[in-house]
Amino acid sequence: MISDLNQALSTNIKGMKRSAIRELLKLIENPNIISFAGGLPSPDTFPVTELKEIINEVMDKEAHIALQYGSTEGDNLLRTMLVNRYRKQGVDVSLENVIITTASQQGLDLISKMLIDRGDYVIVGLPSYLGGLSAFNSYGAIPIGIPMDEEGEDPNIMEAELQKLQAMGKKPKFIYVIPDFQNPAGMTMSENRRKQIIALAHKYDVLILEDSPYRELRYEGTQCKTMYELDGTGQVVLLGTFSKIFCPGYRIGWVIGHPDVLDKIVVGKQATDLCTPAFTQRIVARYMEKGLLDKKIEQIRAMYQVKQQNMLKLLEDNMPQGCSWIHPEGGLFLMVTCPPQLDTGALLKEAITEEQVAYVAGTSFFCDGGGKNTLRLNFSYESLEKNVEGIRRLGRFLKKRI
Ligand SMILES: Cc1ncc(COP(=O)(O)O)c(C=O)c1O
Repeated sequence: MISDLNQALSTNIKGMKRSAIRELLKLIENPNIISFAGGLPSPDTFPVTELKEIINEVMDKEAHIALQYGSTEGDNLLRTMLVNRYRKQGVDVSLENVIITTASQQGLDLISKMLIDRGDYVIVGLPSYLGGLSAFNSYGAIPIGIPMDEEGEDPNIMEAELQKLQAMGKKPKFIYVIPDFQNPAGMTMSENRRKQIIALAHKYDVLILEDSPYRELRYEGTQCKTMYELDGTGQVVLLGTFSKIFCPGYRIGWVIGHPDVLDKIVVGKQATDLCTPAFTQRIVARYMEKGLLDKKIEQIRAMYQVKQQNMLKLLEDNMPQGCSWIHPEGGLFLMVTCPPQLDTGALLKEAITEEQVAYVAGTSFFCDGGGKNTLRLNFSYESLEKNVEGIRRLGRFLKKRI
């Protein structure tokens, strides 16, 4: 080993730290702890039997493709399946608008790699997805946080920030949004708000990065159009993933965007992993071809809808006075706001040791260091019974602290 590893480290890695959430995921290995911390799908949704069959079929008939290197853009069969699916939903995309990535976290990384130089600005929500913030940070971006209301990021504050940058002769590299069932807060951006933010992006000539892993997991209300579709000019780059509607272990996602943007992402991806695994892509493509994905999504929605309703009822029954949360219409999360004197980060260890219940302290999601009295709860992973017991424990714990 070299004498001083620290001295050898790049500026980029020095500015990065281990993900608090990834670290917390280790906790769920202890069966006594009820964890609302991770963003994990329920393992009961994994299509094990169907996959065994499809994997055998792929090995019998097309191992020469599935076990080979693939193109950086992704498996054409899978891209075609995605194009057909979007078109069925009324979104105008063709093959040149779609590339496959090693899940959407890689999409976040590659877009950052493509656009961010150290010291560049990006606009994000307060709060926003920690993995997105980490990806931007790893390229030296400076996040500008925009407070959110129940419709999404406040467009007046966003415009004021854009104007401030303009006065400095700068503009952000992109506006990062999670419009559908936001992680961590759970809210959905209204169509009007989507249009307002798109109008700002046009006025100030900035790209929008629309990250939408939960879009298909709606349990109530009506579906909003994607910002990609509402924009229609290629100024929005849309990220999708199979992680929450199929299996996160496959690590497959996609980017929808203008061909000029995708071309640059492909160049970046070639230096990262050459291509997304051909094996998993072909299996998902055949899974979709058999019409199994739509059925799976229906099944997941039905299961999570019960969990979402159950969670909302449990919070009503167990949370102490002074705590509030928004009612998510879909997705996997909601965020609880506790009275201002509570520091959920400082209390987490005690919650785990005293009550054996885990959550994510909200401050991890606030790029301005705020949100100290908030916490994020996942309702998809644990069983209904464990959700009941876990929220009882959490309610008891918070009551004592308040
Ligand atoms: C908003 C958001 N974006 C991206 C991801 C990454 O998903 P994956 O890399 O599994 O596709 C997640 C995962 O929880 C997420 O919540």
